[in-house]
Amino acid sequence: MKINGKTFVATGGASGFGEVSIRRFHALGANVVICDLNRERGEALEKELGEKSLFVKTDVASEAEVTALFEEAVKKFGKVHILLNCAGIAPPKRILGKEGPLPLDAFKKVIDINLVGTFNVLSKAAWVMSKNEPGEDEERGVIINTASAAAYEGQIGQAAYSASKGGIVSLTLTAARDLARNAVRVCSIAPSTFKTPMADTLSAEVIESLSKQIPFPQRLGNPEEFAGLVQFLVENGYMNGTTIRIDGAVRMGPR
Ligand SMILES: NC(=O)c1ccc[n+]([C@@H]2O[C@H](COP(=O)([O-])OP(=O)(O)OC[C@H]3O[C@@H](n4cnc5c(N)ncnc54)[C@H](O)[C@@H]3O)[C@@H](O)[C@H]2O)c1
Repeated sequence: MKINGKTFVATGGASGFGEVSIRRFHALGANVVICDLNRERGEALEKELGEKSLFVKTDVASEAEVTALFEEAVKKFGKVHILLNCAGIAPPKRILGKEGPLPLDAFKKVIDINLVGTFNVLSKAAWVMSKNEPGEDEERGVIINTASAAAYEGQIGQAAYSASKGGIVSLTLTAARDLARNAVRVCSIAPSTFKTPMADTLSAEVIESLSKQIPFPQRLGNPEEFAGLVQFLVENGYMNGTTIRIDGAVRMGPR
């Protein structure tokens, strides 16, 4: 799909991977819709990017808010062609702590935002996209989800997070098959550790230890490298139903 003139929605669009992708797609000539819980950052980005941008404060886990997100996007830009699902949380918690087992609500919260939220936005975006006239390559829409290397090699303390990301990997092929008759492609990206605000919580010591485990290049990923992969997946019409790792060949250890 050609990006210029299309409408691009990114959840988690006010920070990290989502923000960098919003900036890239805006520079490539797309209308951009920033979906995030963080009103302050979202509104500042909307103001900076100007006319061809829209911020909608949205909790991806809320059916009503995500429905309203697409109503507002269509009201302003007419159509939605591309979705990037980036909203996510990664609170580290072991299955057994000093006080007992991980409370079920803590596990459910991560699944609710990362996995249920991804499906919530994916399904509602697909509905809106299914009404588009087919464009070049006969496509009506493209959806990219963000999984994680933790879907394959969950580390200590990542039980809920890796389960949520594994769900996204498993969803990808089914979603591509389900939405094939609507001419909507679905892919996912599984990054290792990247330099975003989410990784800012890691100490210099942890970053050094993580970097040493990476075969090449021995550094954390740059969010621009992630956004470049999003662009490739949107532009290449034969990419569908698959999850791509972006990780410098690292396979994460237990910690
Ligand atoms: N940074 C990494 O190393 C890394 C690695 C693998 C996967 N990921 C995944 O990439 C995605 C983006 O991560 P990031 O590093 O850019 O993080 P980030 O913390 O910089 O951005 C995440 C954004 O999601 C928003 N958000 C959180 N809960 C939300 C909700 N319920 N509804 C709407 N918005 C919500 C936050 O406000 C924030 O702006 C996440 O799904 C994360 O799991 C990140």
